[in-house]
Amino acid sequence: MAIKVKTGSESTILSVGAYRPSRLVPNSEIVDLIDSSDEWIVQRTGIESRRFASADESVVDMAIGAAEQALTRAKLAIKDIDTVIVATITYPHQAPSAATAIIQRMGNPTAAALDISAACAGFCYGVAMAHDMVRAGSAKKVLVIGVEKISDFTDPTDRATAFIFADGAGAVVIGESTEAGIGPVEWGSDSENRDAILMNPSWIDVRNTETQLTKADVKWPNITQEGQKVFRWAVFSMSKAALKALDSAGLSVNEIDAFIPHQANVRIIETMAKEMKLPESVVIADDIRTNGNTSAASIPLAMDALLAKHPELHGKIALLIGYGAGLVYAGQVVKLPPKP
Ligand code: UT7
Repeated sequence: MAIKVKTGSESTILSVGAYRPSRLVPNSEIVDLIDSSDEWIVQRTGIESRRFASADESVVDMAIGAAEQALTRAKLAIKDIDTVIVATITYPHQAPSAATAIIQRMGNPTAAALDISAACAGFCYGVAMAHDMVRAGSAKKVLVIGVEKISDFTDPTDRATAFIFADGAGAVVIGESTEAGIGPVEWGSDSENRDAILMNPSWIDVRNTETQLTKADVKWPNITQEGQKVFRWAVFSMSKAALKALDSAGLSVNEIDAFIPHQANVRIIETMAKEMKLPESVVIADDIRTNGNTSAASIPLAMDALLAKHPELHGKIALLIGYGAGLVYAGQVVKLPPKP
C-alpha cells in the first residue's frame, strides 16, 4: 500500500523583523574588568558597542518583539503562521521550548513549535528547515526566529568573550512563492573541534564535554572560546562553504547584491570577502560594529539593519552564512524580502 505524500511549493522570505534591547553598552563599560581598551577591541573585532537586555527582558520577550515586527511587515497575523522555529542557545529551560512559550503568548497556541540548537548557525539551519517544510507541503508559513540573551551566560571578567557577545532577536516569515526565493543549503560540521566554543558550567573541566551532570551540580554556564582556532576555521573553511552555497544556487559572486555573514568579527568578515573575491558592488553587512555578536540573532538583525540602510536591496539577492559552536555551519542564497 502506498503512503500518500504532500507536496508544497517554492518558498521565499516574506519579511524580516528585529528586536534590539534599548541598553547600548560602549566598550568603555566593558574594558576595566578584562584589562582591555576601546582601541584593542575596535582594532581586533570592529566592535564599538553592543546591546545587553535588562533583567526583565527575556529571550521570549525579545523573540516576540522581533516576530511581531516581521508579521506586521508581512501584513500577517500570528494565526496565519503554522510553524514556529526558534534558534537559540540561551533559553534557560531544557523544556518546554521557547517556541511553545512564544506561540502561547502571541495567541496561536496550537501551531507546530520547536527550538533548535545550532549556536551562531542556528538561524540559517532554521531557514533551511522552513524552506524544506514549505517545499514538502508540511508548512505554509513559518516564523524563523534567532534570539539570544548571551549576557546571562557570559563571564564579564573573561578576556576571550566578554567584549564580543551581545543580546537581541531577529525573525523572518518564510512562506509559499511561485518562484524560488531560497537556494539549497550548504551545511555541515567540524565536530572534531567541538570544544572550541563551549557553554559548560564553569567548574567542569572544559575539555571533558561528556561529563554527566547531576541535578545538584547544575549552575548557569558561561561561554568560553578558543578565539584563534575559531578565527582560522571561520576565515578559511567558511568562505569555501559560502562559495559552495552560491554554486548550489547556480550563481556566481558577480550575481549577488549583498553578503550577510554571521557577525562574529569585522576582520573575519573582511577576510572572507577577500578570500571569496567578492566584487565591490556586493554590499557587506557589518551590524557587529554597533551591536556586537548576537549568535543566532546576528544574521536576521544584520539583514534588518542592511535593508534599513540600503532600501534598494529589498527583493535583491543575498548570500547568508552562519557558523559557530559545534563547530557547525549553514549557508544559503536568499532573495531579500520585499519592501513592506
Ligand atoms: O560567534 C562565535 C564564533 N566566534 C568567533 O568567530 C570568534 C573568532 N575569534 C576572534 O574573533 C578573535 O580570536 C578574538 C577577537 C576573540 C581575539 O583576537 P585575537 O587577535 O585572536 O587575539 P589573541 O587571542 O591572539 O591575543 C592577541 C593579544 C595577546 O597579547 P600578546 O600575547 O600578543 O602580547 C592577548 O594577551 O591580545 C591580548 N588580548 C587582549 N588584549 C586586550 C587577548 N584578549 C584581549 C582583550 N583585551 N580582551
